[in-house]
Amino acid sequence: MSQRHRVLIIDDEPDIVEVMMARLEAMGFFAMGYTKAPKALEALRKEDFSVLITDLKMPDMDGMEVLAEAKKIDPDIEVIIFTAYGSIEGAVQAIKEGAHDYLVKPFEPIELVAKIEKAIEKRGLKQRVRYLEQEIGKSIGQHMFAESPAMKKIISLVRQVSDSDATVLVLGESGTGKELIARMLHHESRRREGKLVIMDCGATPATLIEAELFGYQRGSYTGAVRDKKGIIEEADGGTLFLDEIGNISPELQTRLLRVLENGEFRRLGELDQRHVNIRVIAATNVDLKAKVDRGEFREDLFYRLKVITITIPPLRERTEDIIGLSQIFLSEFCEKAGKKVKGFSREAMDMLLSHHWPGNVRELKNIVQSAVVLCKEDVITPDEILPSGIYDRAPVQTVEEGLNPIEAHEKAMVIDALKKTNWVQKDAARILGISRRVMHYKIRKFNLMPDKEKG
Ligand SMILES: Nc1ncnc2c1ncn2[C@@H]1O[C@H](COP(=O)(O)OP(=O)(O)OP(=O)(O)O)[C@@H](O)[C@H]1O
Ligand SMILES: [Mg+2]
Repeated sequence: MSQRHRVLIIDDEPDIVEVMMARLEAMGFFAMGYTKAPKALEALRKEDFSVLITDLKMPDMDGMEVLAEAKKIDPDIEVIIFTAYGSIEGAVQAIKEGAHDYLVKPFEPIELVAKIEKAIEKRGLKQRVRYLEQEIGKSIGQHMFAESPAMKKIISLVRQVSDSDATVLVLGESGTGKELIARMLHHESRRREGKLVIMDCGATPATLIEAELFGYQRGSYTGAVRDKKGIIEEADGGTLFLDEIGNISPELQTRLLRVLENGEFRRLGELDQRHVNIRVIAATNVDLKAKVDRGEFREDLFYRLKVITITIPPLRERTEDIIGLSQIFLSEFCEKAGKKVKGFSREAMDMLLSHHWPGNVRELKNIVQSAVVLCKEDVITPDEILPSGIYDRAPVQTVEEGLNPIEAHEKAMVIDALKKTNWVQKDAARILGISRRVMHYKIRKFNLMPDKEKG
């Protein structure tokens, strides 16, 4: 044993306490014994013990109470109950209530030690599981990449407010990472052991949202064949993420306000008030303030939601993030596909940097994913990016002025090839040894399109 495990013993008979302490010390444990349970619990409040061994029948406090109290003080403590022959039912009951094991008096010292060691092992495993869960939680948070000053600021704001219970409103265009922020807030909060429950108010039909959120009593409406717990109750002790909050009906806005104000709500069809302890995060990509101004969204709810507001800028306004995000997604998808792609060619990266990104980070992720699938060499070139059709939909940012020397040279070559082929793009592409798609992209980039094709 590398470190002496600490064992706490309680029995109203001083002789037993003394004998057990001596035995355990001899076996390498640190043992502390008491004849009075309240004294022992006091010691447990002050110091850490791995295992508690307690008699079941004692005059001042019985073993069941000791078990309950000890677990309140230290939920990780493992409790072994010992009892006289003939009162095994009590021991069985104790196990149902969370004791690790029991021993019947008189017992062999070897049996006692074996049970203590098992208890210590179990406690270690539980602590390890909890540690790993926390690590997973942390790494979920860390997956939020930030290079741009704007995003770095957001991450530090998230860290600052994650532990508070204040409501957070996350704003941003589609695909900017609103859900990721909500996950990070939850996983870095004290509530991380509770659940993060997500309600997509945009995709769920309005009539169902209420039933889903608040739950219902059997028979409260057609189809309600049994009592059902709502999402709000699921999230009790944890976090509720209301996505697309802008879409909820006026009635729902009113009911939600109640929950936010005092945690009170009723299941549909039920009279009794219920109470929950939740932290609410809401997100939307619509202009909520404008909705308030038009009278479509309750102003008081709006202010309740935006105690803390996090606005994620669109990707096109934080191009510093594009390179890093692309690399992260590249390694992620390469690993999944079992491929080895080193990176992006300069041209491919140029394309990513100059795109308008209407779908933000999600769009970038999708493009990298399809590029990895298509990629046959060890770098991603424009040929793997263009098939996703991004430039067919969104305008390429044309570069008129400020071409760097390479670009100016490139533009001259493209014009030259086009002239030689009488502006047949396919043939010009062949001369330059590039694909038609890339040719098409360059024509748009350098704004070389014949007038009728522009715009
Ligand atoms: N900073 C970031 N670092 C790493 N991945 C990101 C980042 N931002 C977004 N993502 C990824 O991009 C995708 C879209 O993010 P998310 O679902 O959080 O966006 P959203 O704002 O909720 O979108 P929508 O409005 O469409 O629901 C997810 O796969 C997410 O993991
Ligand atoms: Mg989302």
